[in-house]
Amino acid sequence: MKLLKERIPKLIDFGTVAGENGSIYFSEIGKDLPFAVKRVYYIVDVPVGSKRASHAHKKLDQVLVAIAGSFVVDITDGVKTWSFIMDDPGKAVLVPGGTWRTLHNFSKKAICLALASDVYDADDYIRDYDEFRRWKSE
Ligand code: TYD
Repeated sequence: MKLLKERIPKLIDFGTVAGENGSIYFSEIGKDLPFAVKRVYYIVDVPVGSKRASHAHKKLDQVLVAIAGSFVVDITDGVKTWSFIMDDPGKAVLVPGGTWRTLHNFSKKAICLALASDVYDADDYIRDYDEFRRWKSE
């Protein structure tokens, strides 16, 4: 898997064209999307008050966007922390590999669309925070 050069969480603007019959949002590799997408998934029906993720990926880069409703993405590289309120289908967050992330504060009917740089690989996950800290210090 090709790793991103700059592995810092940040917001990415999606292009948008709004019209009388609705809005369309888009992102393209080589423009704003920083990697080639190999997998797409989405998270729906999260009960208010529940959390998702709370894990790290070693290599996988992801872009997350609230295509409906809102939620919060907390990210840490073990030293620095970031928190993004996702409530706009035109703004995505880049969650680079090598970070721990937690999704929470889901609104009713929130939908989190995830674009991922690789196919599903259970071995790319770290699900224990202490293990993540140890892995970061290696
Ligand atoms: P997971 O990434 O562990 O999400 P969370 O930490 O929020 O629970 O995914 C939950 C389950 O879904 C897990 O059993 C793995 C499976 N899954 C896939 O099979 N393919 C995928 O692309 C994703 C994202 C998850």
